[in-house]
Amino acid sequence: MKSITQYLAPVAVLCLAGCAAVPSGPELDKLTADIVRASFRDQGPVKVDRLVQDDVNRECSAADVVGKPIDPTLAKTLEAANLKTVKWPSDGKYLGDWKEGEKIAQSGRGLTWTDEPGQAIGGNCYNCHQIDAKEISHGTIGPSLHHYGKLRGVTDPASPAAQPIVTYTWGKIWNAKAYNACSNMPRAGHMGILNETQIRHVMALLLDPKSPVNQ
Ligand code: HEC
Repeated sequence: MKSITQYLAPVAVLCLAGCAAVPSGPELDKLTADIVRASFRDQGPVKVDRLVQDDVNRECSAADVVGKPIDPTLAKTLEAANLKTVKWPSDGKYLGDWKEGEKIAQSGRGLTWTDEPGQAIGGNCYNCHQIDAKEISHGTIGPSLHHYGKLRGVTDPASPAAQPIVTYTWGKIWNAKAYNACSNMPRAGHMGILNETQIRHVMALLLDPKSPVNQ
C-alpha cells in the first residue's frame, strides 16, 4: 500500500512549477479518493469496501459538497429504488419482544474494528434517539422516539400489519433512505446491520403498547 506522501508527490511537483498547472477537478477528486483509500486497511470485521458508495451515497455527498439539497425529482427516484430493497417480514409478523429490542437499541457493538467477526451486532439507536425515557444518555441527531407507538396511534398489536405506521416503521428501520434519500440514519436491514428477528424486537420496543416507550 502506498503512503500518503507518495500520493501527494504529484501535487508537490506541480507546486514547485509555480502552481501554474493546477490539477483539474476530476484529477483532484481522484487524488483525494486515492489518499482516503490509502489511509484505511481491513481490520477485524471492518473492511475498506465500506468506502464504496452506491447511487444515493454519491448523490447526497455531492450535494453536501456544494451545500445544497439534492434535486427533489432525483430524491424521489432514489427513495423509490431504496424502498424496493426493503424485505418485509417473511411471516407477516412485525413485532417481537420489546425487552430484546431494548438490548439491541442500546448496543453499538458488532461492526467496529475492535469487535470479533460474527459477534452480535447492535442497532445503536440510542446513539441518535431518545427512546425509553429512563435512559438519560442518548443522542439527539434523530427525533425523540419516546411514546412513538402511542403518539402514532398503534393500539392493536394483534393486527399491526393493518396499520400503515407499522409498515412505515419497518421500512424506515430496514432502509431509512426509502423515505428520505439523504437521511443520516443507518440502513439497518439493507446494510446487514440487523436481521429480521432483531428488527421485529426493535419494532416491539417502539410500537408494542406494553413497551415502556409507550407508557
Ligand atoms: C446516526 C444516527 C441514527 C441512528 C444510529 C438511528 N437513527 Fe433513526 N433517525 C435518525 C434521523 C436523523 C432521523 C430523522 C430523519 C429521517 O427521517 O431520516 C431518524 C428517524 C427515525 C424514525 C422515523 C421517525 C418518524 O417520526 O417518522 C424511526 C422510527 C427511527 N429513526 C428509528 C430508529 C431505530 C429503531 C434505530 C436503531 C435500529 C435508529 N433509528 C438508529 C438518525 C438515526
